[in-house]
Formats: sequence, C-alpha cells, structure tokens
Amino acid sequence: MTGGYQDSGSVQYSALDIHLLRTHLARQLCSAKTWHMPDTPSFPATRLRRTRSAPWSRDLVRETQLSPHDLIWPLFITSGRDAEEPVASLPGVSRWSVDNIVRRAREAAELGIPCIALFPNTPPDRRSDDGAEALNADNLMCTAIRAVKDALGDDIGVLTDVALDPYTSHGQDGLIDENGYVLNDATSEVLVGQALNQTEAGADIIAPSDMMDGRVGAIRGALENGGHQGVQIMAYAAKYASAFYGPFRDAVGSGGLLKGDKKSYQMDPANAREAMREIAMDIAEGADSVMVKPGMPYLDIIRSAADRFDVPLFAYQVSGEYAMIEAAVTAGAGDRDALVLETLTAFKRAGCSGVLTYHAAYAARLLG
Ligand code: PBG
Repeated sequence: MTGGYQDSGSVQYSALDIHLLRTHLARQLCSAKTWHMPDTPSFPATRLRRTRSAPWSRDLVRETQLSPHDLIWPLFITSGRDAEEPVASLPGVSRWSVDNIVRRAREAAELGIPCIALFPNTPPDRRSDDGAEALNADNLMCTAIRAVKDALGDDIGVLTDVALDPYTSHGQDGLIDENGYVLNDATSEVLVGQALNQTEAGADIIAPSDMMDGRVGAIRGALENGGHQGVQIMAYAAKYASAFYGPFRDAVGSGGLLKGDKKSYQMDPANAREAMREIAMDIAEGADSVMVKPGMPYLDIIRSAADRFDVPLFAYQVSGEYAMIEAAVTAGAGDRDALVLETLTAFKRAGCSGVLTYHAAYAARLLG
C-alpha cells in the first residue's frame, strides 16, 4: 500500500491504492479460515439458503416430484351390496362391497391414480386349510376384478395380491405341513393357479406377496404358456417379517386366525444384502417390477435397490405405517397433510418409481 493523504478528516486513496487494497483484501480473504475460492463449496460463496428463500425458487430446484401418477391405492373387498365396513385399526379405511369398489376405482382414475391393489376379506365359511377359495373363479377377488375392468377398462390398472392368507383357516400365506411349516413348492403350485384365476378375471398386474422361493418364475412360465404374455408381475421381492402388518391382517380377517409368525418365509428385518439377492432373483425369474415392504423403516433397502437394479421399484407404505400417521394426527402430534406428503416424497427421494399407500386418494387430492 502506498498510503494516502488527509483531506477534511477523511482518508483519500488513489486509483492505484484502491487496486492494491482490493488485491490485498482478496488475498487475505482467500487465506482466512472462513473463505476459500469456491472450488469446494463453502460459506459464504455458497449459501444454501439462497435457493430455499422463496416458494418459486424451491419449486425450481426441487429434486423429487410427487404426483398422483406415483400412487397405487390398496382397497379391501367385502361381501354384500352397497356395503362399507370401517376397519377399526385403520381409521379412515374401509372394506367395500364390489359395487363400491368400482366407485372407489372410478374415484382413483379421476384423481389420476393409475392403479388400485385389491385384497379380499373372504367370508369365514370359505376359508380352509388349503385355501382352495383362492382358485374359485367367482371368489370376491375375481368378482371385483371383473367388475372394475368391465366398468373402467384401461382407465385404471388392477393389481392383485397372490398369497393364500386371505383364504386359509390358519392365516399363513401358504400350505402347511403337520408341524405348521409353510411348504414352499406345494404352495407355489397353488399360487400359479391363483395367479391364472386372477388373470382370467382381468388382472393387469399379478403381485405375489407370499415370499416362497421360485414362485415368480413359476407364475411367469404359466402366464407365458397360458397366452397371457402381456400380464405384468410386480414381485413383493424384499418383504420383511414385520410388526407393521397388524391392521392389514384385521382388514382381511386373517389376524385372529394366525398362530405363530411368518419368519420362515418373510425376511429378517436385520438383513439388507439378502434383499438384493431376493430382488435379483425375482427379476431373473421374470418380474416386471419389484417392491420393498414395509416402506419407511426400509428406505435404505430402497436406495440400494434403486442404485443397483434398472427396474421399476415400488414401496408399500403398509397398514402399520398408515396407522402410525393417523395416530400421530389424532394425538395432536403432527399435521396429516404434511406427514402424508413428506413420507411419500421420501419414497421418491429414496429411488422409488411409486408407492402403495392407503393415503393414495387423500394424497392425490392434496397434490391436485
Ligand atoms: C399378504 C399380505 C400382507 C400385506 C400385504 N399382503 C400381510 C402379511 O404378509 O402378513 C401387508 C400389507 C399391509 O400391512 O398394509 N401376504
């Protein structure tokens, strides 16, 4: 610095002084702890709050978009006409008779929801040890599939659950031996029959949820051989033996029947690498899309799967997760709209193509 001269109490600098001062300051700033030239992002060159400051800007930089098209709406079917049976452990969710299922399906289509998932509450007198009702072409499930497809055609997709638990008198997803062990290969054969039964009724996506080994390949083979090449399979590929399924079992009426647990076929919640093997196998066997279930406690599995596999990936935000959100709202511990949108956005952020959620219609309305 060359100095300056005093004039009426203020210091005056020449153009050269100012240039040197600037250079000096810039050097000092660059060497100071709080300032680096912005080759690595750091404060204050980088202030992450800049892009967050206004709604238009948040809209502009948002990495994940949630839309009604991302949602699949699970619906429970019951017998009768114009019937609605609220499910106590799932406040806001009901079982609907087939005519009302068609109304719900139309509502979904109008909201931009592309697909519904159907689950029957089979009447008790139609449940048996072998779950034979699953093969009845006129069971609740097939009646509902036909009714929705007759009314709406391709205006909505119909995904159907393949597993025996809504049909067995013991509440397990498969056939059991004398010790109560769920038999793999024998169950798989029945699941193939169940899948064909649903396909013939008009199902668009077959979704095996039973976790038997090899059932995706067996169903894919049967669909190919049966002339149903266009029918999709969404494999419940990484489905955990979870404590979050309780309200669902109430809804399909299997909860009170189930003795023991499903740990010999559903996955151990402690395992992540095994989930990748499950998903890889289901893709190899002919799954068009795969699912991780439950949802929120398993976002790490979703992220790993999204990074690893180039296949549409879905999460099931299951009944216990829905019930937790509703319980929080009732307890005054959270705002429903915000909780619903935040959790669903989290699935997209983690890498999901879409989410099965009991909040689907509610969320679609919020999303407009
Ligand atoms: C049946 C099935 C279950 C769910 C979907 N399909 C329950 C279970 O495996 O016991 C759970 C869905 C939910 O909790 O919302 N195989």
